Amino acid sequence: MKKGEKIYEGKAKILYSTEETDKLIQYFKDDATAFNAQKKGTIKEKGVLNNKISSRIFELLEKEGVKTHFIKSISDRDMLVKKVEIIPVEVVIRNVTAGSLSKRMGIDEGITLKEPILEFYYKSDELGDPMINEYHIKVFELANEKEMDIIKAVALKVNKFLVDFFNKNGIRLIDFKLEFGRYDGDVLLADEITPDGCRLWDKKSGEKMDKDRFRRDLGKIEEAYQEVYKRVIGN
Ligand SMILES: Nc1ncnc2c1ncn2[C@@H]1O[C@H](COP(=O)(O)OP(=O)(O)O)[C@@H](O)[C@H]1O
Ligand SMILES: [Mg+2]
Repeated sequence: MKKGEKIYEGKAKILYSTEETDKLIQYFKDDATAFNAQKKGTIKEKGVLNNKISSRIFELLEKEGVKTHFIKSISDRDMLVKKVEIIPVEVVIRNVTAGSLSKRMGIDEGITLKEPILEFYYKSDELGDPMINEYHIKVFELANEKEMDIIKAVALKVNKFLVDFFNKNGIRLIDFKLEFGRYDGDVLLADEITPDGCRLWDKKSGEKMDKDRFRRDLGKIEEAYQEVYKRVIGN
């Protein structure tokens, strides 16, 4: 599949058209941003690692019956995907307190929740992805009720699978972000599942193995992504 024109350049990836109108190539960059792009940098080889990590996870999820945009990985940094109409709602699934949840609720990080919490954010760089609820989503017609039913069910199913998958590989899945898109009357899981959008803590040491190392200047960022890659691909 040949790369056509660049149709969008985001913070971490570039989208290219292909010869087929319903397919895109997602190119994974090494660029990293945090705090609504106020902090910028690069993480060496991140694009390669994220493409491979995301591809593997999408493959496993497809086997579990989760419909995703993933078709195949076509090079180190390029993933062929179905072109979806992105639903402008970012879905965060939390298993353990951390980040903005700890801040908002005034609770220490690292406390296991008695059940997962789903949060929704309006996908808007200009507005800084504000938190919204299902009323906002309904009234502003970001997604309809049927789509939301699918999104919530799939998010929880993906969470169940990933908690177990990472756990088997010595990683605690703290929280992660998903994006969904419309395709041919269906709702597909889209975008990426990588250490950029997941909080992953080593089970033994408690060490962070995700983008928090970049956000919080903890060092050994490349090493952490490499380690996630090793554990995800090895299994
Ligand atoms: N299958 C898809 N079809 C169309 N758009 C997609 C698909 N998967 C992801 N996207 C969108 O492509 C962009 C990916 O680039 P990224 O660097 O993550 O952008 P952003 O800076 O907007 O987060 C995102 O805006 C994401 O919503
Ligand atoms: Mg993104």
